Amino acid sequence: MSSVKVECVVKAGALIGEGPVWEESEQTLLFVDIAGHKIHRWSPTTNQMQSVETEDSVGFVVPRMSGGYVAGVGRCIVAVDWSTEMMTSLVEVDEDKPTNRLNDGKVDPTGRLLAGTMGKEERPAEVQKGQGSLFSMTSDLTVTRHLRQVDISNLSVSQVDISNGLDWSLDQKTFFYIDSLSLTVDAFDYDPTTGNICNRRVVYRLQEGEGLPDGMAVDADGRLWVACYNGGRVINIDPATGVRVRSVSLPVMKTTSCCFGGPGYSDLYVTSASLGLDQSERREQPLAGHTFRVTGLGVKGRPSNSFSG
Ligand code: BGC
Ligand code: CA
Repeated sequence: MSSVKVECVVKAGALIGEGPVWEESEQTLLFVDIAGHKIHRWSPTTNQMQSVETEDSVGFVVPRMSGGYVAGVGRCIVAVDWSTEMMTSLVEVDEDKPTNRLNDGKVDPTGRLLAGTMGKEERPAEVQKGQGSLFSMTSDLTVTRHLRQVDISNLSVSQVDISNGLDWSLDQKTFFYIDSLSLTVDAFDYDPTTGNICNRRVVYRLQEGEGLPDGMAVDADGRLWVACYNGGRVINIDPATGVRVRSVSLPVMKTTSCCFGGPGYSDLYVTSASLGLDQSERREQPLAGHTFRVTGLGVKGRPSNSFSG
């Protein structure tokens, strides 16, 4: 059995470090600081970090096939030209909810982007319920809203509080999804051709002390790695049985998201937040807001997908 090691590798000092994604072509780790309005790109080989500022909060960043990145800034999905730091809005979502913002997003194996929103946060993880949505966007920039529920007065009601982690099963037929305030990791049947999701069920319910489920990644064995916000850990769940098979502790409580990367995708990168910690918590967790690398897990991840538009 290999020995698991957790190291703090990027002193990002983020308010809400989030959305790590390994960029194969550059061998770099991309991640965002949502409340710090920054997209970061860090190279493990040179230990250099480049950063680009965004005009508003930035919920996610993903590679784009035609070059550059796509990011969720405020309520806009924007194209990012890394060399010029130029951002061009592609689409706007939740026009009827001006205080909403985009949160986590990821690209499916066909190149379609899925990203969600959440309502204004009064305090970390405290939002008005049901203001968020889950959207998908295809290469021609067509946006579809999912998880809409029509109530008796024919009003469309959203079922999402804090749209968060997402990923797909190895056969692409299952979409794993986290709405943090539900305290569950859920699964849907997924149609990769249309992007439709249906048949929602609970895969895992977080237990006392595990905090809130946040970002997640599926490994090459099809198991889920879920960062637990206020739980100071990443948990490993077998979706076939709904059993938590492992738990990795980190030296910070607000672990926010994770992705596999590095040589052969054998390292797990974990982001964290510092926003919302009081003074004594900050003293106890001097590494809050930094990014960590977990090695020796004995599992591998899968390459990230690029947006096809
Ligand atoms: C959001 C935070 C939120 C946290 C816990 C993150 O993805 O960006 O604003 O506090 O999840 O739900
Ligand atoms: Ca998140």
